[in-house]
Amino acid sequence: MDNKYSKLQQQFLCCYPVNKMAWSTLHLPLQLEEQKQLIAATCGHALNQRYPVRRSYQEAFVKRLLQLLKDHEELHDDIYDSLCGQLAKATLSERESADAAQVYAYKHYLLPTPMTLRESKSFVIEGTTGLCTWEAALALADYLLEHPSLVQNKNVLELGAGTGLLGILLKQRSLQLQVGQVLLTDGSDACVQLMRENIKLNFAEEPLDFPLCAQLNWAQISEFNWQAYAAFDLLLAADVIYDDTQFEALLSAMEYIFERHENNLQMLLASTVRNVDTLHNFMQQLALHGFEATPCANVSACASHFCRDHTAAVQIVSIKRKS
Ligand SMILES: C[S@@+](CC[C@H](N)C(=O)[O-])C[C@H]1O[C@@H](n2cnc3c(N)ncnc32)[C@H](O)[C@@H]1O
Repeated sequence: MDNKYSKLQQQFLCCYPVNKMAWSTLHLPLQLEEQKQLIAATCGHALNQRYPVRRSYQEAFVKRLLQLLKDHEELHDDIYDSLCGQLAKATLSERESADAAQVYAYKHYLLPTPMTLRESKSFVIEGTTGLCTWEAALALADYLLEHPSLVQNKNVLELGAGTGLLGILLKQRSLQLQVGQVLLTDGSDACVQLMRENIKLNFAEEPLDFPLCAQLNWAQISEFNWQAYAAFDLLLAADVIYDDTQFEALLSAMEYIFERHENNLQMLLASTVRNVDTLHNFMQQLALHGFEATPCANVSACASHFCRDHTAAVQIVSIKRKS
C-alpha cells in the first residue's frame, strides 16, 4: 500500500507526543477510505496488534484524530473500534485500572525495518531508571546512524545500557553497520533481563550475530569476567551522569576499562542537559581523572530516525585519555 500516512505511522509506533505529531500531513477532509487507511497504518498496524504501544497513548491518539475530524459528516467505524480496541467497550474506571496494571508496553522504531523494544511506562521502577529508553540514548543512536564510521569494525561496550536500544540498533542487519562484538551492560538485574527480552524480540531469525549482554556494576568493575569478551574499541554510555553520587564509581570504571585497553579506546558519552551544574561537575572530574572530552558537533542537527522531539538538549562528548 502506498503509505501517505508514513510519518504519522512512524510517530505513532514509537509513541511520539500526540500534540507534536505531523497532523499537518493529513489533507482534510478525509474520505471514509482514507480514515480506514490511517487507522490501519497506526492502531491497526500489525506491530501494534502484536506488541501494543501504551493503551493510554492509543486512546490519546484516536481522541486527537476525532477532534480533527469533528466536522466530518461520516466517520469510519474503525476509528471508534480502535479507540483502544477492547478498551473502547470498557468503562472509564476499567480503562484506568487496566492502564495502570500495564507496567510495560512496546515501542517500535521504523528504521525503516522495525526495531521493537519492550519498556516500562514509568521513568523509575524496580529501583532503576533503566527500564525505559531515555532521550540521550535516542540522540546517541541518531548520531551513530549519521556517523557510521564511528562503529564500523569496532567492538563496542555500553555501560548503563538500560533497555538495550543502542546495541540492538548497532546489530540491526538491515542497517549494515558492520559492527564487531557488541556487549550491553547494566548494574541492574532487571535491566539485564529486559535487555535479554528485547534482544530476543529483535533477533529471532539471526541467532549468530546479536548483541551480548551482562550485568556490570561500575563499583565492581574488576570482578567482571573480561576474559569472556573481545577487546573493545568503543565505549558508549547514555544518560548515566544524572546522579553525582555515581560519579566516582563511573570514573573508576572508565579508568579501569581504559587501562585494560592500554588507552586504545574512544568513549562516546551522551547526556541530557537537565542540570548544567551536574554536567559541568562531571566534566571537571573527567579532567581530574586524566580524560580529555571533546564535544561532538551538530548533534541537534542530526536527522531523527527515532522521532526524538528535541524537548531536551543532549550533549555528546568524545572522551579519550589525555596524551
Ligand atoms: C537513566 S538510565 C539510562 C539508560 C539508557 N542508557 C538510556 O539512555 O536509555 C541510567 C542507567 O544506568 C544504570 N546504572 C546506574 N548506576 C549504575 C552503576 N553503578 N553500575 C551500572 N549501571 C548503573 C541504571 O541501571 C540505568 O539503566
